[in-house]
Amino acid sequence: MSICSLNGQFLDLKEAKISPLDRGFLFGDAIYEVIASYNNKPFKIEEHLDRLFINLKNIKISHNLSRQEMKNLIQSVIEKNDLSNQIIYLQISRGYEEVRDHIPSSTSNPTIFVCSFPLKNISNKEFSSLKVSLKEDFRWRKSNIKSTSLLANVMYRIQASEKDFFEIILHENDYITEGAVSNVFCVKDNEVRTPSLENNILPGITRAVIIDILNKLGIKIIESKISVNEFLNSDEIWITNTTKGILLVSKVDEMKVSNSSDLYKKVLKKFIEETLV
Ligand code: PDD
Repeated sequence: MSICSLNGQFLDLKEAKISPLDRGFLFGDAIYEVIASYNNKPFKIEEHLDRLFINLKNIKISHNLSRQEMKNLIQSVIEKNDLSNQIIYLQISRGYEEVRDHIPSSTSNPTIFVCSFPLKNISNKEFSSLKVSLKEDFRWRKSNIKSTSLLANVMYRIQASEKDFFEIILHENDYITEGAVSNVFCVKDNEVRTPSLENNILPGITRAVIIDILNKLGIKIIESKISVNEFLNSDEIWITNTTKGILLVSKVDEMKVSNSSDLYKKVLKKFIEETLV
């Protein structure tokens, strides 16, 4: 049994229900966070809460939950689910309204839902031959907001699974943005590059962790624009997110990545150490 929290009530996940008039369902008028919990401790919780509160403010969802209450809620869901490593989804919509209208009513209360799933390691088979595909980025211009309006990302993920790609890497006007569910890094001559936040990307928490690790290891990291050509000429390509950590790409469409650098191994080692703390 998996325990979730819906508007402050703890329930068996199978019993949780919301109205079809919830604005999250009607308009995708909602934001979310995905948080990894290692050994019953949420990883980088402050950073996730920072992003959550920025997003709530960005889309003007008013609520009366303090940061501490939000943290307690997440911790309670972690403790109620008996799994040492879990992945927590915190979803907040603008809430239920009696009449469907694009303009939100001033009286609605946000729907706050927190649930947990087992955090799975990726299989060795996938890991040793991680193929990605490049596609034009047709998402909206506010991909920095962690919105549940994920239709474009879902379409990319369907394409990926149909063609047996692990991830779709997006580019816009010949510059790499990010993956459909991940941020990207590439290595050339022992320097690491990642698209800067001005490139219409999500400010990934794992991305920030990796930048921090690179700085600690004294490895040069440049946040900039990365052309598709530069990307394809990388010595290594990494993708990062909360559910998968940091992964090494072996092929981009038909092109094999040389993987002629050993930076990935160093960074992964440090990342594993940090998640164990
Ligand atoms: N997605 N970019 C996009 C478009 C993402 O959807 C994600 C994560 C990331 C990485 O962000 P973070 O490091 O904070 O997980 C970047 C999550 C895993 C999801 O939607 O399930």
